[in-house]
Formats: sequence, C-alpha cells, structure tokens
Amino acid sequence: MPKVLISDSMDSIAEKILSLNNIEVDVKTDFTVEELIAKIPLYDGLIVRSATKVTKKIIDNATNLKIIGRAGAGVDNIDLISAKEKKILVMNTPGGNTNATAEHTLALLLSLSRKISKADTSTHKGEWAKKNLKGNEIKGKTIGIIGFGNVGRRFAEMCTALGLKVLVVSKSFNDVKDEYPDYDSCDLNDALEQADIISFHCKPNFDGSSVINSKELNLMKDTALIINTARGNLVSEVDLCEAIKEKKIGGAAIDVFATEPATNNTLFGLENILLTPHIAASTSEAQVIVAEMVANQFVEYFLNNKVINEVT
Ligand code: MLT
Repeated sequence: MPKVLISDSMDSIAEKILSLNNIEVDVKTDFTVEELIAKIPLYDGLIVRSATKVTKKIIDNATNLKIIGRAGAGVDNIDLISAKEKKILVMNTPGGNTNATAEHTLALLLSLSRKISKADTSTHKGEWAKKNLKGNEIKGKTIGIIGFGNVGRRFAEMCTALGLKVLVVSKSFNDVKDEYPDYDSCDLNDALEQADIISFHCKPNFDGSSVINSKELNLMKDTALIINTARGNLVSEVDLCEAIKEKKIGGAAIDVFATEPATNNTLFGLENILLTPHIAASTSEAQVIVAEMVANQFVEYFLNNKVINEVT
C-alpha cells in the first residue's frame, strides 16, 4: 500500500479521498525541517501547499518518494531540478484556486482605491474621518495585467465587466489574441507608462530576481497602483517602499512577500499600502477544490499509473 504524507494544512477531503482508495496517509503539518528529512524516506508521496519548502536536502533523503503534489498553482517552494534528477514527479492543481485569487485581487484593488482599510480602522475608533477618505473610481481606468494564465484571464474578465481598459503583458498572449479582441497587448514598459493600475499574475523569475525595480517604478504614473497576488519577489520590496515614501506611485496592495511568513518587512506600516498574508487563494471553495484535485491525481497515479497536471 502506498504511503502519503500531507505536510501542510489543507481541506480534510484530501485525506478522505486517499484513505477511501486504500492509500495510507499521514497528516503532519508541524514537522520541523529536520523531522521531515528524517521521516521522508517512509513515504511514496508528499502533498504540500506553500509552507513546506521541498528543498534538495529533503529530496535527496526521499529514498522512496515517487510523487510530490502541490495543492495550488505555484511550485516555487519545490526544488524542481532536484526532483527531476531523482525522477520524482511533481504535479500541481492548475485552475483550482483561479477564481479565489482573481476575486481577492479585485477586493484589494477596490479596497485600496476606496481606502476601505483606513475607513474601517478609523470608524471603529469613532473618528468619523469622512473628509480624509475620498477615494477613486476604477471605471474608465487602464489596467496592465502582467501574465495571462488562468488568474490573469479571470481577473481581466472582471476588469472588463467593471469598465476598465485592459492591457496584457504576456508572451503567450499573441497565440490567443483573436479570442480577446477587447484587450490590447503591449510590453512591460509601455504598460508601466500607460496604466493606472498594474496587477501581477505571472510566475516569478527562475533566479528569484525582481521584475519591478526602481527603474521600472520610475516609469509609472505618480497616481498608479500596484497589486501583487502572484509572488513576492516579482516586485522589489525595498524599491517599492522607496517609491511609495517618495510618492512616485499612488499605492500598492500586496498579498505575497519575498520571505513568508512575513513577520518583519520593509513595507510594514507605510501609508497607502494594503497588506494581506498570502490569502488570495484561501477561500473555503478553492481549498476544497485544490485538496480534491491533488488527492484524485494521487489516486490516478498510484492506482492507474496515470499522470495528471505534471509540472516539468
Ligand atoms: C498558489 O500558488 O496556488 C497560491 O499561491 C495559493 C496558495 O498556496 O496559497
């Protein structure tokens, strides 16, 4: 009987599906790195979200591991090269949390534009800060969507419905352009110059280097907003901090950080910046879907030798 470890918290449906299919499963979400290294040889499969960092050291010790499943989309917490070297399959659950992430992006955009966080805090304090809380509308504004995968597409649909003009920055957009006549394609610098809002929906650079640094921030309008629900290292936090302090851009809403969990960060406490703790995909609905997807993919693999959603 194959044995699977679930090492990050996820919906219990994953455990149920595996057990129902006679796959032995342990749920241990509090292993230290050393404990995980010691225990990993016991398992044929490992299921993670983003908290477990599946490093080379863990993979090198995983003498029986055949498959690593990511309940989510991003696999930047898994050392893909080491997994490949050891012929360990990596799979994710694309699409499972697309809508959740797109809705959180929209929530951040609207909250930032209408100063909802400040309004809430000051109203709770009895301050009635009405005069200081004039917001901006998003209808008629131009948004640059960086990355046109599942989340970028869903968010672009929402933006169009709300009356925004959509610019897409994506190498793959040309292949599907005809399906999206309402969107314009442009390169990153043009989007930065033209857009009132920039939203990230792309993968991080392989080496972890930032896509947006001071040079790019200097191209933006001084009223422009940055929204990042993709990965923290896409935007240099130090340069973003400086741009916000010097009012080179209007503000930012950030769900993802270069180092997570973010317990100390240069962006903390700044004006005009809204922060959430990597919760874009954390909805009840999405967490059931990704847990179900990854467990069913493991069942297909162990019982039918079928590989679904492999990440290469
Ligand atoms: C993902 O890559 O799917 C997201 O970042 C969601 C998450 O794991 O929280």
